[in-house]
Amino acid sequence: MNKKIAPETEKLLWDAATAAASLAYAPYSSFHVGAALLTSEGEIVTGCNVENASYGLTNCAERTAIFRAIAEQKLSRGITVEVIAVAHRDHQSCTPCGACRQVIHEFGPNAIVLYEYESERRQTSISALLPESFQF
Ligand code: THU
Repeated sequence: MNKKIAPETEKLLWDAATAAASLAYAPYSSFHVGAALLTSEGEIVTGCNVENASYGLTNCAERTAIFRAIAEQKLSRGITVEVIAVAHRDHQSCTPCGACRQVIHEFGPNAIVLYEYESERRQTSISALLPESFQF
């Protein structure tokens, strides 16, 4: 999937996602992840993973960014996620987990997803990452 993103926008998103990764609360896995989403209104919202001693309560970076955007009214009134970048603080491979794919799809059915895999920056779409997503 190769929908065009302006190079300067892409750089802004990578930089924001990488900066967000340095804010992660990840004392259990030491896997620091950041996400930066671009809304259809042109706003960038970031998030990081937040872990918990009760492991299952962990929230991934992508969902933190999306939930934050909702709480800040940046994904309301038909505004959608256009692009979401996911970055590991030290550039380890990190693709969105299954739960995050479903949540990204909810707020950005046509979203472009940027992620790093084996030291290479890649671009795909949420529909490629989550075909036949659940819809109510
Ligand atoms: N993690 C994310 O933040 N995003 C993903 O898409 C994959 C995994 C976090 C969750 C957990 O804190 C750590 O990475 C290790 O799984």
